Amino acid sequence: MDAVVLVGGFGTRLRPLTLTHPKQMLPVVDRPMIEHVVGRLEQQGITRAVLSLGYRPDAFEAAYPEGRCVGVELFYAVEPEPLDTAGAIAFAARKAGVQDTFIAVNGDVISDFPLVELIDAHRGNPGAATIALTPVEDPSRYGVVVCGADGRVEAYVEKPPAHEAPSRWINAGMYVLDPAVLPLIPGDRPASIERETFPALVQKGLLYAVAHDGFWIDAGTPAAYLEAQIALAGGTHIHPTAEVAPSARIANSVVMDHVAVGAGAQVEDSVLLPHSTVQANAEIKRAIVSPDHRINV
Ligand code: GDD
Ligand code: MG
Repeated sequence: MDAVVLVGGFGTRLRPLTLTHPKQMLPVVDRPMIEHVVGRLEQQGITRAVLSLGYRPDAFEAAYPEGRCVGVELFYAVEPEPLDTAGAIAFAARKAGVQDTFIAVNGDVISDFPLVELIDAHRGNPGAATIALTPVEDPSRYGVVVCGADGRVEAYVEKPPAHEAPSRWINAGMYVLDPAVLPLIPGDRPASIERETFPALVQKGLLYAVAHDGFWIDAGTPAAYLEAQIALAGGTHIHPTAEVAPSARIANSVVMDHVAVGAGAQVEDSVLLPHSTVQANAEIKRAIVSPDHRINV
């Protein structure tokens, strides 16, 4: 099965890191975010990833010039202008000649959601689209979903105020879509799958959902980008090229390539991006240190 992977956003919440790199090319522990996402798709049987590109497509083409990423064939679909999520999916699917039922995923979601269950549920329901749901504490920065016992979605609200969220089950950013959804998406202007297509499918009774409570992170904000790294590293991870003074204390942190940490420094719950420096005796906690930056005492 093909998967359209949305990687064309500006990543504004991760600026300034995303002024130079697209969000999905930022490193997460030991490889770019996209390799975590595509690697998990590969484990679940996806053979071609259609990258829906907009902002800085050159960064992906330069990183994967052979058109392969962690064993998955890549197809590059570069938008002439930002088309928003629905427009981007429709544009990419059309460019790549997708004919059959396909997967679409947000390129900043790292999760262990069982896609096979999503695909099976889709085959067994009368919906045109089946979306993955995950539970969160604060649903206000996500798409919030209410569904019936048969899995049919009864309400879909994108980013409601916290006190108005009708449930704590949210759109996990992974969908099975029938090609029949594509004609519902306008081709001549940007369109949002969350604000236009899903509500329209709910009205028709054609949107279904599958819930799963497992590992799930949308790494698109500074706090979540930090949390994703620490969760995936499973403790402290220090790149072999990093130079860490023996008297420095590194706890629950990710130290990337060519980082220097001086004597007596304390680094806790943090991520030191490549070529950054924490000087002797400096202390940092819950911080992301930008590439090439230096933290002084
Ligand atoms: N090609 C393309 N073009 N990609 C885009 C565009 C565009 O115009 N706009 C956004 N994207 C990509 C982003 O790069 C990202 O991978 C994905 O689409 C989703 O955009 P985000 O900006 O990360 O959305 P969000 O995190 O606020 O909300 C979305 O994800 C949540 C789950 O992680 C929504 O789908 C929510 O409903 C959902 O709960
Ligand atoms: Mg996101």
